[in-house]
Amino acid sequence: MRRLTAIGKVFGTLMIGFLLILPAGQAADMDKGKAVEMVLNTVKAARTVFVKGVLADAKKGGIKGNEDWVKDDHGIMLPAQFVKEIGKEIRGFELGLLGTDPLYASNAAKSDKEKEMLAALAGGKQKVITGEDGGKTIGMSADFAIVESCASCHNEHPKTTKKDWKKGDFMGAIVVRMK
Ligand code: HEC
Repeated sequence: MRRLTAIGKVFGTLMIGFLLILPAGQAADMDKGKAVEMVLNTVKAARTVFVKGVLADAKKGGIKGNEDWVKDDHGIMLPAQFVKEIGKEIRGFELGLLGTDPLYASNAAKSDKEKEMLAALAGGKQKVITGEDGGKTIGMSADFAIVESCASCHNEHPKTTKKDWKKGDFMGAIVVRMK
């Protein structure tokens, strides 16, 4: 009888444990998705301000976006480099840009899951998407050629495989990866 009670206690404790752990686990997953979405939204907003506010205004004063901005006294970083620079300053998240036709192979989707998510965004129904990929939480925010220079610079870049980008085109996504 005593033994049965002991088993009952252990079983009961385990059940309570499961009941507590399961929702907590789900909540943790949800929090990660939310955290990734918040970082995405913030980075996206920062980049829009950089493109429409800083880059556009600097151009009027003769300062242009230049991939080699480090060596150029009259050049500042490009929007994609701006995102990567923010990524270097944020801990716990990996930030980058993915392209449907990337200039550099390092900006291509890194897994089947990422390809699938990028394709879903290209469909145009969703602007932001999150998902799980081998233990990482991935968030993507659709990236469009919001100004003419997005298209023209990509069309003219020596590494481009696509020369007919137009203003408004879906070009890829800002990506956030969180472990
Ligand atoms: C003056 C040239 C220039 C302008 C303007 C420019 N880009 Fe880029 N973009 C680049 C270069 C160069 C890279 C690769 C940078 C790297 O990964 O270090 C890049 C990378 C990207 C990528 C990642 C995929 C790839 O092609 O490698 C996307 C997406 C992208 N840019 C979208 C945009 C959008 C949207 C705009 C306008 C808001 C824009 N770009 C403006 C030159 C430019």
